[in-house]
Amino acid sequence: MSQHRSLPKPVATVLNAFDSLGDSFKGAITVDAEARITWIDDRYRELLGIPSQAGLIGQRVEEVIPHSLLRRVVETGRPILIDIMAFDDKQFVVCRLPLRNEEGEIQGAVGFVFYEEIDYLAPILEKFETMQRQLSRAQAALNRERQTKYSLSSFVGASETVRELKTVVRRYALRDGAALILGETGTGKELLAHAIHQQSDRADGPFVAVNVAAIPEALLEAEFFGVAPGAFTGADRKPRKGKFELAHGGTLFLDEIGDMPAALQAKLLRALQEGEFEPLGSNTVKKVDVRIIAATSQPLEQKIEDKSFRADLYYRIAVLAIHVPPLRERLDDIGLIAEALLETIPRPRDQRGWLITPEAIDQLTRYSWPGNVRELRNVLERAAAMAPSEMIDLDLIAKALPPAAREAAAPAPPIADNLAERLAFAERTAMLEALAAEDGSKSAAARRLGVSRSQFYEKLKRHRLD
Ligand SMILES: Nc1ncnc2c1ncn2[C@@H]1O[C@H](COP(=O)(O)OP(=O)(O)OP(=O)(O)O)[C@@H](O)[C@H]1O
Ligand SMILES: [Mg+2]
Repeated sequence: MSQHRSLPKPVATVLNAFDSLGDSFKGAITVDAEARITWIDDRYRELLGIPSQAGLIGQRVEEVIPHSLLRRVVETGRPILIDIMAFDDKQFVVCRLPLRNEEGEIQGAVGFVFYEEIDYLAPILEKFETMQRQLSRAQAALNRERQTKYSLSSFVGASETVRELKTVVRRYALRDGAALILGETGTGKELLAHAIHQQSDRADGPFVAVNVAAIPEALLEAEFFGVAPGAFTGADRKPRKGKFELAHGGTLFLDEIGDMPAALQAKLLRALQEGEFEPLGSNTVKKVDVRIIAATSQPLEQKIEDKSFRADLYYRIAVLAIHVPPLRERLDDIGLIAEALLETIPRPRDQRGWLITPEAIDQLTRYSWPGNVRELRNVLERAAAMAPSEMIDLDLIAKALPPAAREAAAPAPPIADNLAERLAFAERTAMLEALAAEDGSKSAAARRLGVSRSQFYEKLKRHRLD
C-alpha cells in the first residue's frame, strides 16, 4: 500500500478499494499527458513479465505494453470503461480512465487490470475467448488454403518430356510476368501453377485461386475486383475484397480462363497493364502487385478466331506459355505416377501400403488416358476399392479400367473391310473413352465429343452402351 503514496489522492483511494478485491485485482498503471509511464504497480509489472521497476518510469507506454490504449485515453480525454487485453494466453479485463486536474485539463491516465475470476464477467470473457478461438481457427484455415499445396517435386515424372517441362517451369517461375498453362484436362495444370508460385520470389505471399468457369458470370466482377463499401449494387453484394486484392504480393491463379466473359477480359487486361483496378461501385483505383498465372484446357487460338477471347489479352498472358503434355505422351512415367498416387489413396487400417505389380503397370501403359492423371487416379481408386489385400494386380486393374481400355487390351477385333463398320467401331471407342474421361457423366462426355446430349444418348442406345 505504501507504493500508492506518490499517486494523486483519488487514484490512491480507488486503488486501496480495489486492493480489497484480493487476487482478482492485478494492479494498475498511470501515465502522464504524453502517455509516458509515471507509475506502475508491482503486480501489473510482474504480469507483464518485467523483472524490476528500473528504467520503466518515463518510458512511452507502448514500449512496455505494445497494445496499450492509454495514449488514446489521454488524447481523447474519454475513458475506456471496459476492455479485454490478453497476456500470454490469458484474458484480463482492463479499465482506463483519464486523470484531470482541478481545471479539468488532462494530466494523464490510469489503467486498472482485473482477472476473469470476477464472476459476472465470466460469460463475456468466455464468449470472447470462443470467438477468438474461432477467428484464429478460420484464419489458420484461410492461410493454409492460401499457401500452395504442391511444389514442383509433387509433379511426378522422370521422362525426357517431363524433365523438359520442369526446366521450363523453373525458368518461368523466376520471371515475374504473367504465365499461361495449357494442357488437356487432368494433366496437372493446377499442380504446376502451385509449383510456379512456390519456386518464385512470391512464395511467401498468398496464392489465390479462382475458377472462372465455376462462378456465375454476374458475380465474377465482384469476385475479382471486390465491392466498395457503400456501393449500391444489390442485396447479394456486401462490401468485400476481391481476389485481386487478396492476392496482393503473391499470385492469382485464374483457372479456366477460356471461360472468361468478354467484359471482364477487358478489365483484366487493364489490371494487368496498369497494375490497378476499380472495385465495384467505387470511383477510386486500387493498386496491386499480383502475378497472374492462367490455365485452360480450351484451344484459345480458336476462341480468338471466333472472337470470344481477346487477342490482346492472350498475347499479354501467353508470353510465358507452358504446354503440359497429355499422359499418353509420357507413358514411361505411369509407373512412378501410379505409385505416387497410390500413396495418397486411403488404405484399410491394418494395411501398410498399396503395392502394384509390374504386370498391372504394364496394362496401365496400354491405354490412351483421355482424362490424363486425374483419370489414372480414379482407376487406381477403383482398383484399390476392389482389392482384397494391399496388392493391386493385373486382374484388378483390368476390372478398374473403362470398357474401352479392356477392349483395347484384348486381342484386336478383326478389322472390318466395311467402312460403315469401321466408323461405327471408331465411334463406339471414342464414346467409351469420353465416358471414362468424364467419370461416367454422359452430358460431360457429350460435351467433350462436341455432340448434343440427345445425340449422345441416341448413339449410346445404337451401340448398346446405355
Ligand atoms: N505429374 C503428376 N504427378 C502426380 N500427381 C499428378 C500429376 N499430374 C497431375 N496430378 C494429380 O492429378 C490430379 C489432376 O491434376 P490438376 O488438377 O492439376 O489437373 P488440371 O490440369 O488442372 O485439370 P483440369 O483441366 O481438369 O482442371 C490432381 O489430383 C493432381 O495432384
Ligand atoms: Mg484444373
